[in-house]
Amino acid sequence: MVIGLLMLSSIPAVTGVAFGVSEQRKSNQRREDARRMVKFNIDAQCSGDTDDDRDVHGRRVVVRDEKVYLDDPNPAKRSHPAFTSLAFYIEYPELDETKHLNRGLGLPTYVQANPPLLNWIYADNDTYELKYGNRTQSVEHLVGPWDWTEDEKSIILEEKSAFVAVEEEEGEWALYFDRDGDELARVLEEQDMLDCAFVPVTLIRQIVEEPPAPKAQSQG
Ligand SMILES: *[C@@H]1O[C@H](CO)[C@@H](O)[C@H](O)[C@H]1NC(C)=O
Ligand SMILES: *[C@@H]1O[C@H](CO)[C@@H](O)[C@H](O)[C@H]1NC(C)=O
Repeated sequence: MVIGLLMLSSIPAVTGVAFGVSEQRKSNQRREDARRMVKFNIDAQCSGDTDDDRDVHGRRVVVRDEKVYLDDPNPAKRSHPAFTSLAFYIEYPELDETKHLNRGLGLPTYVQANPPLLNWIYADNDTYELKYGNRTQSVEHLVGPWDWTEDEKSIILEEKSAFVAVEEEEGEWALYFDRDGDELARVLEEQDMLDCAFVPVTLIRQIVEEPPAPKAQSQG
């Protein structure tokens, strides 16, 4: 009898605590998700002082023809029409077959405005080119984890800021991920591209302010 009463009275209390903790965790998670979903453009920053460094520094990440390039921030000044990447972070939706990989945050970007279309930015598993595509196109490649540096200012993939701009054609800088830390030597050799100029870049998040919510009409 005594035990029965204790149990009855203790259960709601315990459940109440557990409920409180999980609600708190959920609300923290929601706040963190919202921070991760803040939209940003991505700009290249080069620390070197060669002509190539100066050429690439300040260019903006754009997407066209299933690849990720650096071009002029002003769309009118681009050599090829391209869409300015507008990206954020969200958990990559693994397939049942890839659930065990659990690659964490993906980096979706808008690839067109009308109608709005989101694709995943990924590094090609074989060539290390940065590309974009839907889940079917991206899932077998390096889709994450993407993250930001501790100061939240720049972008990293697999915990590395190892991005390289490669001049594939005169004045056309494509982005690559130096996954092996060999300045892309192996993958560029495999593609017969060792003659191409290349520049290490830091990818800087440029937060794009959300349009302000419509102001409530003031009464009276
Ligand atoms: C993914 O993109 C490819 C190429 O654009 C397309 O053929 C395919 O239908 C898309 N898949 C989904 C699920 O949208
Ligand atoms: C990715 O590349 C590695 C070698 O670099 C290879 O062993 C692996 O099979 C590739 N994975 C896929 C899914 O193509």
